[in-house]
Amino acid sequence: MLKRFSVSIKKEVSDRFDEFVKKSKFSNRSQVLNYLIGQELVNLQWQENKEVAGALIMVYDHHKRDLVQQLLGIQHDFVKDIISSQHIHLDHDNCLEVVVVKGKAGRAKELLNEVKAVKGLKHVALTATTVGV
Ligand code: NI
Repeated sequence: MLKRFSVSIKKEVSDRFDEFVKKSKFSNRSQVLNYLIGQELVNLQWQENKEVAGALIMVYDHHKRDLVQQLLGIQHDFVKDIISSQHIHLDHDNCLEVVVVKGKAGRAKELLNEVKAVKGLKHVALTATTVGV
């Protein structure tokens, strides 16, 4: 079901918004607003420690045994929050790991902070998303 409502915004902002819509791949203003509001509502879920989902991505050299052991240990500490993981051998040295979490946002953030603190990681990033409700 769609709901219609009118909003008042500064002309300058409205003009810039229309320009953005034109340049984007979105077909109209409503589609852009739906997208932006959806993004913000997901952000709010994360801020309010709601049930969320996310994907933690890590890149590291698997020859660094201590690092690998630490990452494994952390993942076992978060076994109730991690619902899936995938390990990809990028090349002879580098591995990419995707760890999917589902649960309270705070737990996912804790996991991110623990992983960030591991020395020697080449990159770590958390994509924060929703469980869909
Ligand atoms: Ni590997």
